Amino acid sequence: MYHLADQGIEYAQKAISADRAGDYENAIKYYKIAVDFLSKYLVLYPDTPLADFYKELISKYKNRISVLEKMMVEKSRVEASPSTSTSNQIDASIFEVLKPEQRAKKTFNDLVDLESVKRALKRSVIYPVKDPSLYPLGWPKGILLFGPPGCGKTEITLALANEINAVLLNVSPANIMSKWLGDTEKNVKALFNIAREYAMKGQPTIIFIDEVDALFQQYSVEIGGEKRARNQFLIEMDGLASKEHAKIPLFVIGATNKPWNLDIGFIRRFERRIYVPPPTREVRKLLFEHYTSKLANTFQLEQIDYDKLADLTEGYSSSDIVSIVKEVQNNIVEEINERNLKPADRKVRTEDFIEVIKKHKPSIDQRLLDVYKEWNKQYGTYSED
Ligand SMILES: Nc1ncnc2c1ncn2[C@@H]1O[C@H](COP(=O)(O)OP(=O)(O)OP(=O)(O)O)[C@@H](O)[C@H]1O
Ligand SMILES: [Mg+2]
Repeated sequence: MYHLADQGIEYAQKAISADRAGDYENAIKYYKIAVDFLSKYLVLYPDTPLADFYKELISKYKNRISVLEKMMVEKSRVEASPSTSTSNQIDASIFEVLKPEQRAKKTFNDLVDLESVKRALKRSVIYPVKDPSLYPLGWPKGILLFGPPGCGKTEITLALANEINAVLLNVSPANIMSKWLGDTEKNVKALFNIAREYAMKGQPTIIFIDEVDALFQQYSVEIGGEKRARNQFLIEMDGLASKEHAKIPLFVIGATNKPWNLDIGFIRRFERRIYVPPPTREVRKLLFEHYTSKLANTFQLEQIDYDKLADLTEGYSSSDIVSIVKEVQNNIVEEINERNLKPADRKVRTEDFIEVIKKHKPSIDQRLLDVYKEWNKQYGTYSED
């Protein structure tokens, strides 16, 4: 009699062969069956010593399914309008070009704390852009921001772009991966060509790859197109380190909350690796003050005990705190509606926050914090411990 797990593995192998052969339709089908078997097995035997291993497989196959599904959609779109995809043209949807006037105006000052990160980014980006002549030795072009989820990696990159008025080429790994399967390295070349074109004219330019681990993890399943695309990426990064490009204002910034998944070749090209830490107690207090102050124009605030809120939110990310304050707002608006109150009649109190905090779990895994610290010690450029 077959084990559910064995059957799962068998279908996974079928899926991988189909995937390799370019038969994506069947690959999707088999990955789904594999996920199904493995999930059922885990429901029956949650304590199996292989549980973590199977969970990882499941999430890997699910990722793969979504990449392939996107690709199928894309393929049928291109086939439906063949005239739009001539050989030298690149598909604009692999990345978006955001010029300064096309995005929110946030700068460093709009972000609470993150002082160590701001300092590192000034040294790595802002000063070189301001006066390249002070850098006879050039400067590194690759920067990796790493740290727990929801603590400002994306936000600070957007703010950085505004600080230097950069053109931002925003690359979505999910999109680019689905394209890479088809067009492989061509799209990567195109991305860097466009970036260099801007930068050679003196326009500060940032290629931003959010959740970069999705692109550069070590896959056990190596599929030709992806591998070529990744190699091309490394070649392009090396090109930026050449003498010819030593002083162009072009930066490649990657963000990740799983730096340990990155391939070593990739890590090496990102010479600046900056830890974006979770908010300390003091910073959580500031975050509560910052976001609550935005409520003050609309509602009356009682004296809020921010120290207490900070004490109660150990392990909460910046993003958790934003959600908590928003939830407080929503609760109050609901009450105003349900009880037919005027906004001024319903004061915002410390209790309103505490009630929400009780229902909101912290999203930072404390055990992972040590892993980030260790990774920072080993690979970080500006570890300050
Ligand atoms: N220092 C800060 N000051 C004010 N708001 C912040 C700060 N850091 C993060 N936030 C807010 O928290 C939310 C999450 O931030 P962001 O998306 O940058 O996190 P992230 O580190 O990129 O997370 P992920 O790893 O999940 O992508 C955003 O709404 C952002 O505005
Ligand atoms: Mg992010």
